Amino acid sequence: MSKKKSATRILNNPSRSFRIFTFGCQMNENDSEKISGMLKALGYVEEMDVNKAGLVILNTCSVRENADERVFGNIGSYKTVKKKNPDLILAVCGCMMQQPEIVNQIVTKYPQVDLVFGTHNLHQFPELLNNYLVNGNRLVEVWDDSDTIVEDLPVDRKYPFKGFVTIMNGCNNFCTYCIVPYTRGREVSRQPDKIIEEVKALVADGCVEITLLGQNVNSYGNDLGEAVNFAALLRDLNTIDKLMRIRFMTSHPKDLTDAVIDAIAACDNVCNYIHLPIQSGSSRVLKAMNRKYSQEDILDRVSAIRKKIPGVAITTDIIVGFPGETEADFLETLKVIELCQFDSAFTFLYSIRSGTPAATMADQIADSVKHERINRCLEVLHQISHDINQSYQDQVVQVLVEETSRNNPERLTGRTRTGKVVNFAGDPEDIGTELMVRITQAKTFSLDGEKIRQEDNNGTAHPDDDPIPATS
Ligand code: SAH
Ligand code: SF4
Ligand code: F3S
Repeated sequence: MSKKKSATRILNNPSRSFRIFTFGCQMNENDSEKISGMLKALGYVEEMDVNKAGLVILNTCSVRENADERVFGNIGSYKTVKKKNPDLILAVCGCMMQQPEIVNQIVTKYPQVDLVFGTHNLHQFPELLNNYLVNGNRLVEVWDDSDTIVEDLPVDRKYPFKGFVTIMNGCNNFCTYCIVPYTRGREVSRQPDKIIEEVKALVADGCVEITLLGQNVNSYGNDLGEAVNFAALLRDLNTIDKLMRIRFMTSHPKDLTDAVIDAIAACDNVCNYIHLPIQSGSSRVLKAMNRKYSQEDILDRVSAIRKKIPGVAITTDIIVGFPGETEADFLETLKVIELCQFDSAFTFLYSIRSGTPAATMADQIADSVKHERINRCLEVLHQISHDINQSYQDQVVQVLVEETSRNNPERLTGRTRTGKVVNFAGDPEDIGTELMVRITQAKTFSLDGEKIRQEDNNGTAHPDDDPIPATS
């Protein structure tokens, strides 16, 4: 009986087409590239129109309440889509699925969902899909945790010239507000030779930039013995020929050692850019967040970074309205932002995540106070971004061209080694190459420029991205 149903599905879905929607962080983006890679290896093709696609996958994020809400809204809309496209298979995966109460909700309230899997058994997807197609019965398969990393999954990169490389899964830090340790499990580092092999393969395939991913890249290797650590990994990757830009995220301030800072400074191909989420500037709040560093530690690390890495850009994440945050605590955060001169920041209203310690802390902060604080925080941050960007005016910077500008197909957009977005007129053929661009107008969130000469792009030494005086 069920076999018949599967046969009908396969016949009605001759295109074997799919569409993936990704919510959340780069880790999820990288997972989606793997899902896409596995599907393409099975002969599936991408179909942007969900009314025509045979398979839609929602790769979910649970980091804040509004992320959950967006996904539920999205799943809800497939009731209507499925009326138009009855053979559509709807699969839901990612961080939300690692929470049993959310899976329960989906199973009981959302019959339009056909397949559920989690972050730890992503590699099983082709098998699960096949089981679903054979049996035609809704399938829910989520693993609680995993202490191994499955290597060699095919990756379908969004950009041919740059790629993500996950160097570790999970997180051991249990910041009291954060759901990630529950959705991604404990830290498991990949063997360095596997990472180096993957990066070399990416470079051979045309990648000039890689971004190393982990919830706390600075603790990479802690589970693999003393010889393996993030500083050593950076130094090894720096020797790979034709790899021009190495980026990484995220750095936890508590584990950002001098050895890591020295490696960044010493390695020409490691970009002079660090995303260093501080979350708060108040030592009292940081303690309640279980971040394991103080205001003094932040200032010490930022000054060490600035001393050793010329022209470095530092960005951060800030949470406002953590339970018990007083006006005085918040003023400490503003003070630290001013002292650190962050190039930019992602700012978040504290969001209750059930199951985390902070969810049940006393003194939850009123929404109105959170909003008022985030606005003040943004005002300070924007002024600093504006001032820092002004220092790029008339300077010549090296830009890796990424795509044509969304609003104007005649303009290109790319990034400096310090992560600044630069828009300028150019030829789409330049996409994927590094160019020298003179900044003609510095704005708060981006830089406008003009191309001055084409780099030969041979992967040899290149200037730093510190704004250098324009030559006329
Ligand atoms: N591992 C990274 C952060 C990953 S989550 C780190 O430790 O820096 C990305 C960001 O989401 C965090 O830096 C934090 O600023 C924010 N975030 C996480 N949980 C949150 C919550 N419950 N409410 C608001 N923001 C949160
Ligand atoms: Fe979450 Fe903290 Fe782990 Fe980052 S380090 S993922 S904020 S628990
Ligand atoms: Fe979200 Fe999971 Fe990333 S909760 S932020 S997608 S690790």
